[in-house]
Order: sequence, then C-alpha cells, then structure tokens
Amino acid sequence: MEKILVIGASGQIGSELTTALRKVYGNENVFATDLKPPHKDVLESGPFEVLDVLDNKRLIHFVIRHKITQIYLLAAVLSGNAEKLPIHAWNINMESLLNILDLAKEVRDIKRVFWPSSIAVFGPTTPRELTPQLTVMEPNTVYGISKLAGERWCEYYHIKYGIDVRSLRYPGLISYKTEAGGGTTDYAVEIFYDAIKTGTYECFLKQDTYLPMMFMSDAIQATINLMQADSSQINIRGGYNVGGISFSPREIAEQIKKHIPNFEITYKPDFRQKIADSWPKSIDDSVSYRDWGCKTNILIEEMTEIMLNGVREKFKK
Ligand code: NAD
Ligand code: SER
Repeated sequence: MEKILVIGASGQIGSELTTALRKVYGNENVFATDLKPPHKDVLESGPFEVLDVLDNKRLIHFVIRHKITQIYLLAAVLSGNAEKLPIHAWNINMESLLNILDLAKEVRDIKRVFWPSSIAVFGPTTPRELTPQLTVMEPNTVYGISKLAGERWCEYYHIKYGIDVRSLRYPGLISYKTEAGGGTTDYAVEIFYDAIKTGTYECFLKQDTYLPMMFMSDAIQATINLMQADSSQINIRGGYNVGGISFSPREIAEQIKKHIPNFEITYKPDFRQKIADSWPKSIDDSVSYRDWGCKTNILIEEMTEIMLNGVREKFKK
C-alpha cells in the first residue's frame, strides 16, 4: 500500500493535489505537510502536520514513522518572489530538493519522488513558439536557474543512485481554491478575483504577452498519470514539457467580457514583464504524450467559466 507525503500541501497546487491523491490512495494514506495551515478540504479530509522541509531530523523521523513510499515536494519560492530575494530563493529551492533526494537515497522504502520543474527553465535564447523538450536552456531568473539546476540534480540522482524521481515543467497554473504563490503567471488567476470583486483589473503584464497556461485539474491529472506510469515509460528524469493552452492578458479579458460585459482591464507592466518575455509563448509536449499519454482537456472558454463560477461561489460563503 502506498503511503504518500505531500510537502507544501497548503499552496496553490498542494491544496488540490492532496485531495486528488486521497481519492486515489485513501484519505488516511496521504499525509499533508506545510509551514502554514491548509485549505479546509485538506484539513478535514485526512492527516495534516506542520513540517519544515529544511528540518532534516524531523523529516526523516516523519518518513520512517509513517512508512512513506512516495514524496511530492511542492515547497518552493516562485518566480516573482524569487527575484526580490534571490539568494533566499536559491537556498530554499535547492536545499529542499537535495534534502528529499538524499532522503530517498537513504530510506529505501521511498519508491518514488515527484518534484515540479517549470517553463522557467527556458530563457531568452530558447525558441519561444512550441518550445521543444530538448532545446537551448539559458534561464536568466533565479527561479529558472534553480529549476534547471534541480532538473539536473534529479537526473543525477536517478543515474547515480537509481532514485525514481519524476518531474513536469508546469506552465502557469490556473485555479481558484487557494491564491497563487507569487509567480509571473499569477495575473491569470488574480484577474478572475478582481473581475468578480470590482469589475476591473490592472494587469502587471502587457496586453499581448503570450504564456503557456494550464487549468489545475489537467495539471493534477498529468501529475498523477506521470507518477502512476511504469518506470519503463519514463525516459526523462529532468522535467517533461506539459503544454496546456497559450493566451495573452487581452485574450483572457475578452473571454471574461463575454460573462461580465462591463469588465475593464488596464495595463501597468512591472518587473515581471521581463521575466515573462524570457519564457516560451507555447510548449510542444509531444514527448510527454508519447511516453505517458499527457493530455490537455480544459480550453480557455471552459476555464473562464469554471474560474468565474468558482470565485463567485467563494465570495458567497
Ligand atoms: P505555492 O507558493 O502556492 O505553495 C508552496 C507551499 O510550500 C506554500 O504553502 C508554502 O507555505 C510551502 N512551503 C514553503 N517553504 C516551506 C518549507 N520550508 N517547508 C514546508 N513547506 C514550505 O506554490 P505552488 O504554486 O503550489 O507551486 C508548487 C510547486 O510547483 C513549486 O515547486 C513551483 O515552483 C512549481 N510550479 C508552480 C507553477 C504554478 O503556476 N503554480 C508553475 C510551475 C511550477
Ligand atoms: N507559475 C510559475 C511562476 O510564474 C511558473 O513556474 O513562477
């Protein structure tokens, strides 16, 4: 029986991944941990404990006590926040990953590790349209540098120590359950909150900034599919491209206007514009499709409807 540890379970992805994993593996078998309290769905559906991924001693005790067989490491500092405190971000992002990879090396009960990479591994010299799996990678953000280094460490631990580590290069993820965690793609979440609350949104990116994005349910499904795939299907240990959809702030505003005709968007680009300009506009995920069947189901129209309904419901409570 799998015993799963989710680290960073109170964040944007963790809040939804934890409950999805509990549906698959049983509530009592999925242990949620974080520094901060989780969403009530996580708190009420199974075990939660405050745990710092940098606290090696407690981490190893936790893993042994609960006979953990799989770890999902989601704790990280995202792109926007990382640029404000680069060395702090580098330390958190690298130390957390190396702690978990070392733990997997020491504790042989741990059979699989998931660690998310990002489209931030690419940089200004990467081809930006339908960015291929294997291409030029010269990220110029501290977040991107930490993700690229992380990918290399994952592959190193796989080759050298046989660790079954798997990773996805998530694009910007869109969801309403918890707020986004300080990234450059966060505008595409914030816009729905402001559309419902005030009917206006001031966007920190220019109107025609295209970025790859994915609705959370597709990202969760891709994560579970990747982790359930047979080892023989996994040919890439650094990070698999996942494509999702691609849109600009102007296009998403047009979709929102179909539901809220008076919605108004204005543009005031800040430091995150430079980050967005260095990232792909769209992603080629054919290698993920070939290896383990990655698919995107939710397109921009449906995503807009789900987000507006979800945020509206949230404010009613
Ligand atoms: P988030 O910021 O919403 O959540 C991260 C969680 O980690 C937070 O709840 C935080 O409290 C927790 N955390 C931070 N430091 C910790 C520590 N020392 N010990 C334990 N927990 C700690 O981030 P997210 O959006 O859920 O992203 C999760 C992962 O996915 C990150 O690695 C991120 O880089 C990656 N990713 C996210 C996106 C996205 O659009 N959300 C896209 C690409 C990659
Ligand atoms: N959504 C993430 C960010 O903007 C991409 O990794 O930081």
